[in-house]
Amino acid sequence: MAVLPIIKLGHPSLRKRALEVTRFDDELVRLARNMIDTMRVNEGIGLAGNQVNVLQRIFVIDFQLVDETQEARAFVNPRILRGEGSVKMEEGCLSIPGVRADVVRPETVEVEYQDLEGRTHREVLTELPARVFQHELDHLDGILFIDHLSPVQRKLLEPQLKSIQEA
Ligand code: CO
Repeated sequence: MAVLPIIKLGHPSLRKRALEVTRFDDELVRLARNMIDTMRVNEGIGLAGNQVNVLQRIFVIDFQLVDETQEARAFVNPRILRGEGSVKMEEGCLSIPGVRADVVRPETVEVEYQDLEGRTHREVLTELPARVFQHELDHLDGILFIDHLSPVQRKLLEPQLKSIQEA
């Protein structure tokens, strides 16, 4: 088990687009395990490659928080095929500690991704899993949840964001 350092707002890797994963090897499995450990230790529900300074298109989500029968899983080269509806939900991010805000996103998403063996899966997610998937996918494109806020919301959070960036 290894817990990786999580980079915070202000680090340039959070603003970069992660690259497609092409090698489904032991190293990828090890990375996924370490990311799951890191997410758990930090009590997160999701964690993307960019957040541990690995610019590869992989994220992990802990579905156990939603459904006890499900384990934490890795999603490789994920994408959203379509979204439906619109719902407001509060979000936070391990890279922006202490900041939470309401974000509007599609309620249901049909997604496609590969597992650690490179097999392609397609499924429909809704509620919290849909939310986390969208938040994590944004990370792989260099987008943060604060980018979705209204100018007023953003202005209110600005002092907090500034102090994280300066730390
Ligand atoms: Co995040």
